[in-house]
Amino acid sequence: MCGIVGYIGTREAYPILIKGLHRLEYRGYDSAGVALINGKGQLNVYKAKGKVAELETYCVDKDTGGTIGIAHTRWATHGEPNTTNAHPHYSESERLAIIHNGIIENYGVLKAGLQGEGYTFRSDTDTEVLVQLIEYTQLNQHVNLKTAVQLALQQVIGAYAIAILDKEHPDTLIAARKGSPLVVGIGEEEYFVASDATPIVEYTDKVIYIEDEEVVVVSTKEQGTTAKGVDITTINNVAKTPEIKRLELSLSQLEKGGYPHFMLKEIFEQPRTLTDSMRGRVNIRQDNIALSGFIDNKERFLNAKRIIITACGTSWHAGLIAMYAIEEFAQIPVEVEYSSEFRYRKPVINKDDVVIAISQSGETADTLAAIQLAKSKGAFIFSICNVVGASIPRLSDSGCYTHVGPEIGVASTKAFTAQVTALTMLALCIGKEKGTMSEEQYLTIVRELGQIPDKIERMLGQNKRIADFAKTFTYAQNFIYLGRGYNYPVAMEGALKLKEISYIHAEGYPAAEMKHGPIALISQEMPVVVVAPHCGTYEKVVSNIQEIKARKGRVIAVVTEGDELVSKIADYTIEVPETEECLTPLLTVIPLQLLAYHIAVVKGCDVDQPRNLAKSVTVE
Ligand code: AGP
Repeated sequence: MCGIVGYIGTREAYPILIKGLHRLEYRGYDSAGVALINGKGQLNVYKAKGKVAELETYCVDKDTGGTIGIAHTRWATHGEPNTTNAHPHYSESERLAIIHNGIIENYGVLKAGLQGEGYTFRSDTDTEVLVQLIEYTQLNQHVNLKTAVQLALQQVIGAYAIAILDKEHPDTLIAARKGSPLVVGIGEEEYFVASDATPIVEYTDKVIYIEDEEVVVVSTKEQGTTAKGVDITTINNVAKTPEIKRLELSLSQLEKGGYPHFMLKEIFEQPRTLTDSMRGRVNIRQDNIALSGFIDNKERFLNAKRIIITACGTSWHAGLIAMYAIEEFAQIPVEVEYSSEFRYRKPVINKDDVVIAISQSGETADTLAAIQLAKSKGAFIFSICNVVGASIPRLSDSGCYTHVGPEIGVASTKAFTAQVTALTMLALCIGKEKGTMSEEQYLTIVRELGQIPDKIERMLGQNKRIADFAKTFTYAQNFIYLGRGYNYPVAMEGALKLKEISYIHAEGYPAAEMKHGPIALISQEMPVVVVAPHCGTYEKVVSNIQEIKARKGRVIAVVTEGDELVSKIADYTIEVPETEECLTPLLTVIPLQLLAYHIAVVKGCDVDQPRNLAKSVTVE
């Protein structure tokens, strides 16, 4: 998944573009590039393999002048990461330059057609095919760039967010999207386009979210039929009225706030972000939950014969926790599906199904495709998302935003606890409305939910202690994480956190599964993390720990404050405050986030941008 950013206005574009790329680096960073039209009408393209810093080094002695430009940070989908395949891509005549986030699925057919017309290609990318197609259309149909872009995109199958420059029109920048996000920022006599709001927020809070199959032309001066300002049409040239919205992001949210990594900042933000995600939903007296997405669609939930949850990665783990809560409180059967499997396995989907899509970014391709499939079968789509205006919530019938602000660290932390909170609130709303849980149970849990942010705050005080004992585990090649009930998904989430940022192999298992194979792995060399808070299956988990210790395994146990049993048999214990069983994941996951973080830091890993990973997987 790539990041795109463009600028047109009165200021020098290069510094703005480079800073924008740094803000987008979390989206992908195996190469980067910039295209600028300087004051002499020259279109200069510079590209470098690696992170944005490499591009800056490369540009030190180059002509980076110009008040219009586009820039791109890449996470390869077609063609290996190198400067040839890096964006921007010139058209054959080098009159045009394009950047692109997405995948053009029919690029092979389009490429063959252009080669038949004598076109040659420098790169292996689908993006270069697009810019050649646009130029071919412009020259052969004698149309202007906007029309050429519209006509070319009508032939494209796949996903794109593009920005394109024409050196013969240095006062115009054209962008378009389908399936990949694109935002336009409106400044004073200047405009920005970007994959999301992070490169824009320090310049303006006025944005326009571009919809699928829309083409936006930004001009800084009247020229012919092109009006000054922002003009939006569909790829079929149907005029659209720009809807300007106000950004809620602040620049400070984007800074690390004094923490060494965004991930640690986001772990420590969780008391506040959970408070934010409950704000206006759990009332002041903490005896009632009001979710507008539920209230407006009550009948759909009350009549649902089944709830299907579709998500990927950490969001899938949140969905697994929701399954326990919804079935316990609302007594509606729940299926939790990996989106990538759900979208292709020809699932049975009925009109009275409710499909809940969980996605921090709101742009995960597999989850987007999963709900497109469900929607086509008439199911009701409810999304839990963190990015206002993202593709998944825009495709959904209703939903609930988690409102935790931008999550920059690739490893999801605050978004996960907010997803679990939102899903728990939803389960409680349905259970209360259906009468499948008692008023007393409802009130107890709602009140306890209101206490969770303070309890997380207390637990974060153990950060230093966890950092200290994390050092003793950096040798490990493998970890196993175990949990039962609501904490089985927590074990899986803890394992994912460790493996994705420290590159240590880790697996999460239901604790009882040990006897069905994994116990053969137990040895002193493989630490076992056991999530063992006081709840229904506590005694069972204790016996699992004893089985591990009998085989010389080393155990790190997450226990409830005051636990006197496990702390006598485990090698290390981390205490979490007492809470309701269904809320334990919100507490037990915190030490696992910190453990993974500190092990990765000691190992010298790139915690915020782990290798091979991108923050949002907008390609298959
Ligand atoms: C989690 O730490 C990972 N970054 C990854 O598994 C992520 O949860 C997954 O790609 C889903 O992303 P989404 O929530 O934006 O859809």
